[in-house]
Amino acid sequence: MRIGTPKELFEGENRVAMTPASALELQKLGHECVVETKAGAAAGFSDKDYKDAGVEVVKTAAALWKTADIVAKVRVPDDGEMKRLRADQTLISFFSPVADEAKMKSAAHKGATVVAMEMIPRISRAQKMDALSSMANIAGYRAVIEAGNNFPRFFTGQITAAGKVPPAKVLVVGAGVAGLAAIGTSTSLGAITYAFDVRPEVAEQVESMGAEFVFLDFEEEQADGASSGGYASVSSPEFAAAQLAKFREIAPDMDIVITTALIPNREAPELWTEDMVKSMKPGSVIVDLAAEKGGNCKLTVKDEKIVTDNGVTIIGYTDFPSRMAAQSSTLYATNIRHLMTDLTPEKDGVVDHNMEDDVIRGATVTHDKEVTFPPPPPKVQAIAAQPKVEVKELTPEEKRAEEVAAFKAQTKSQVTLIAIGAFLLLAVGLVAPASFMQHFIVFVLAVFVGFQVIWGVAHSLHTPLMAVTNAISSIIILGALMQIGSGSFLVVLLAALSVFMTGINIFGGFLVTRRMLAMFQKS
Ligand code: NAI
Repeated sequence: MRIGTPKELFEGENRVAMTPASALELQKLGHECVVETKAGAAAGFSDKDYKDAGVEVVKTAAALWKTADIVAKVRVPDDGEMKRLRADQTLISFFSPVADEAKMKSAAHKGATVVAMEMIPRISRAQKMDALSSMANIAGYRAVIEAGNNFPRFFTGQITAAGKVPPAKVLVVGAGVAGLAAIGTSTSLGAITYAFDVRPEVAEQVESMGAEFVFLDFEEEQADGASSGGYASVSSPEFAAAQLAKFREIAPDMDIVITTALIPNREAPELWTEDMVKSMKPGSVIVDLAAEKGGNCKLTVKDEKIVTDNGVTIIGYTDFPSRMAAQSSTLYATNIRHLMTDLTPEKDGVVDHNMEDDVIRGATVTHDKEVTFPPPPPKVQAIAAQPKVEVKELTPEEKRAEEVAAFKAQTKSQVTLIAIGAFLLLAVGLVAPASFMQHFIVFVLAVFVGFQVIWGVAHSLHTPLMAVTNAISSIIILGALMQIGSGSFLVVLLAALSVFMTGINIFGGFLVTRRMLAMFQKS
């Protein structure tokens, strides 16, 4: 198949859906690659780079759409591009099937297949194709960089000869993909970072990244706004009020606020109100990543940067991934390449559009002259949607029964092992000389006792176990003690030396063990 990528037409869009590196991988799947001239120029990929990677470069968009069997692009195609889309052609792109229903119907009517990148189901196998996540990751990172660019102070605290600089305080509202990327960037720049989300399960992730989770004094805790599928649902009015009260309390203390809170298929919830903005210090920055959906701060102006009367900068850009076009194109092109790997199972350049495949089915919005949106829920649940496994609390009777059963099973296996061992010993004893058997039995018993002693000791305790075994091995001190009363001076000297050295081994061994075990004890 010929996979083609045109130059993006959307004003200010710098990304490109195929990079020279992704083209090399696509060719390994048996496909031919073609791009429109200058398609990658804004992302830093020249026509020569593509040619060097074995990609054909065509002069016009018309030629590109004509020659390609599969068109891979970034933005939703405009009306002109929709006209170029033809029957039996496959389009892989962001497509916004809900907002652009008419385009979807027109594609279906023509008999074209459309794979919408935002519809890739959020299941673990599809993570490598998840363009929403890869782009959100970039947006989160860039939001912090953009905030830093507009913030008149350092992120990290410093004590210098010229004075003491306090660290910046950053609040990230919404700890989804973009929020977590923002938290990671902010903490690595040295800011004191706080984060809030309605989904309580993210608190652990937030804390593991070095930020502090903002907890609410709310009876049901954060769980109120949580829902399945990894996405949030609308919070109850009481919860929303508690959340706003908390934000109002901390707003004067925050230098940078990055809001990323979204609820699928809804306007962004208003979380950073006008009075909170007013209470912030001059020079503070708000980056509203929800600007596309109306903003988490109602003062946000989409695609613009404004400065309020009290000197707070509010950034409402919606093109953060495009502002880092080389990086975002590389990730997006990789997402597409992985999708093509799924679509080309035999790696022979032949596309098998398998509608039984969860990922392909989920992302396909038109196929075989039909609108196939919305897809049925994937057979595999989203990672984040999996409910916590409830550990059942056992009654004392059940616990006892469980213990008895475990004991019986253990006894059974031990008796079996002893029986097999005894049988083998007898068998060896039938042929081996008596002197051998004496040593052999001691050896077998030593192995058995040693095995019983260390079996069941947690792996992490093996080092202290070694130390204590070392100390116990100094039992050889008995030999030296028995010889120390000998008449020969040399024997007494050697015995005294042995007692001294094994003494070090004994006391040192136990001391080291004690210190090691102390590391495992909870204070
Ligand atoms: P999103 O962009 O829809 O929302 C961003 C964040 O805002 C979410 O964490 C949401 O809980 C939060 N939010 C909504 N209302 C809020 C409010 N009133 N106050 C504070 N926070 C609020 O979500 P995104 O970032 O696209 O993904 C959300 C989750 O989906 C991820 O954290 C992850 O658990 C899951 N996911 C799973 C994937 C997979 O399984 N392949 C891939 C990507 C994400």
